Amino acid sequence: MESKRAAAEKAVEYIRNGMIIGLGTGSTAYWAIQKLGINIKDGLRVKAVATSIHTENLAKELKIPLISISEIEEIDITVDGADEVDDEWNLIKGGGGAHLREKIVASMSKELIIVVDESKKVNRLGKFPLPVEIVIFNYENTQKKLSTLGCVPQLRIRDNKPFLTDNGNYIVDCDFGSIGQPRELHTAINSIPGVVENGLFIKMATKVIIGYQDGSVKEQ
Ligand code: 5RP
Repeated sequence: MESKRAAAEKAVEYIRNGMIIGLGTGSTAYWAIQKLGINIKDGLRVKAVATSIHTENLAKELKIPLISISEIEEIDITVDGADEVDDEWNLIKGGGGAHLREKIVASMSKELIIVVDESKKVNRLGKFPLPVEIVIFNYENTQKKLSTLGCVPQLRIRDNKPFLTDNGNYIVDCDFGSIGQPRELHTAINSIPGVVENGLFIKMATKVIIGYQDGSVKEQ
């Protein structure tokens, strides 16, 4: 917990008055949102967009001013977590099932600061099964198509039911093993009809902050 918090709070130091901020989703982004809430109470003036309904509710509780994403064209800084970060700052995201909105917000952001604990740093992506959001219509065949790309797809289940994203879709967790060519895989997956978005974020991060158990951080 201390490692996630340390990385997240470091990222918040980059947030200045007047900025539009993207709020990530997950247990590391949580700490950034908490700290932002404190800074706003102390007088910081920003507006924020949320990457999930969960984050939106948290932001409302903390009285962080929210703005609709359709009202803006650009975001100054987004702070978000990741499930894996490789040496080239490619990411796997979507462990929380929010990667579609996270990617839309990231794509509008001048800065995408990724905050992780040391366990998320890998040489090569792929230990964490890649989340892929798919539409419910024909999902069985979409899964079969995904398996032809070399993975073992697993429909995400929560409380004995298929997990539903904020967008009303399913998630398939795809174990590809070690991913040698993330950019090519990203394109191949998103070319399958029925796939909405996969959790590979290729060269989108502009900064990675790694937190450690002793509360120290390393910025890259
Ligand atoms: C949610 C995400 C999260 O950023 C990712 O799962 C990391 O979460 P955590 O900080 O809880 O480990 O992509 O869709």
